[in-house]
Amino acid sequence: MKNKVSIIGAGMTGSTTAHWLAEREIADLVLVDIVEGMPQGKALDLLEAMPVVYKDVRITGSNDYEATAGSDIIVITAGLPRKPGMSRDDLLTANAEIVRKAVDSTLQQSPDAIYVVLTNPLDVMSYLTMKVGRLPKNRVVGQAGVLDSARMRAFVAMELGVSVENVNCYVLGGHGDEMVPLTHASNVAGIPLDEILPPDRLEAIVDRTRKGGGEIVSLLKTGSAYYAPGVAVAQMVDAILKDKHLIVPAAAYLEGEYGLDDIFFGVPAQLGRNGVEKVYEYKLAEKERLALDQSAESVRQTTQALQSLVKV
Ligand code: APR
Repeated sequence: MKNKVSIIGAGMTGSTTAHWLAEREIADLVLVDIVEGMPQGKALDLLEAMPVVYKDVRITGSNDYEATAGSDIIVITAGLPRKPGMSRDDLLTANAEIVRKAVDSTLQQSPDAIYVVLTNPLDVMSYLTMKVGRLPKNRVVGQAGVLDSARMRAFVAMELGVSVENVNCYVLGGHGDEMVPLTHASNVAGIPLDEILPPDRLEAIVDRTRKGGGEIVSLLKTGSAYYAPGVAVAQMVDAILKDKHLIVPAAAYLEGEYGLDDIFFGVPAQLGRNGVEKVYEYKLAEKERLALDQSAESVRQTTQALQSLVKV
């Protein structure tokens, strides 16, 4: 039987995720949105692209959650994106209600689905998804680290004039400006970044990575990034459906790892057919540990704000 992935929210990130996924030919796709006709139109357009790339993928759009029945994975992208001057946390109130509805409605149709969450503030929306759905922790993962690490890889590759294939970067922590790009574990062909780059250039790359989302928002002016977030989700979905046991930086629920508890936070998470199979722990330098604690504090404050807004 073919896999089925439903994407809730057929806006910029939702439809781009569908595009990247369709090219991989790993699942039939359903796009759901509240705007009438839009998910149907985008789905049909994408379906009509498939003959050109020789892919057999069924793609449908709907305003109705019944279309998502029997999904293996639900991707949540519904919600508002940032505008210039907004932080991801500014989206909390509006997006919490949207995500709650999406989780309730999809779970009725697909009681065994794994959730990949993209709506911001990402770490907290993943927490909300788990709590609202009363889901075990392995069935919810948030996309952020693949994107943040990809941004850092792009910047390092540009700086050194090497292939992106040679650059491995690992960004941990919450998906906010306090995220923690690891400068020693990240490397170029095995050479740690803090050995291959002068300190000022490395610091500039770390800073640009942290503010990478905001850089795109201020250029676009009307929304936030979608190509890179979309392909990051596609990689995670691919890892789950193919049971790859792929370790990616992603927001996972922590129960003691990194000294943190009852929080979704960006860590190396192993993804397979059961969702999050395992969380790996780095031996962090003191500076990194402090930065991670600071990032965790920021996510915890937003989680608490959520708890006072919505009963979870
Ligand atoms: N149910 C389904 N879809 C909804 C709902 C809902 N209750 N509420 C809003 N949507 C849809 C909107 O109609 C819109 O098409 O969600 C879509 C969001 O798309 P965009 O506005 O294009 O935003 P996008 O860039 O995709 O970002 C969505 O992902 O990366 C994060 O920060 C980003 O939180 C934002 C989310």
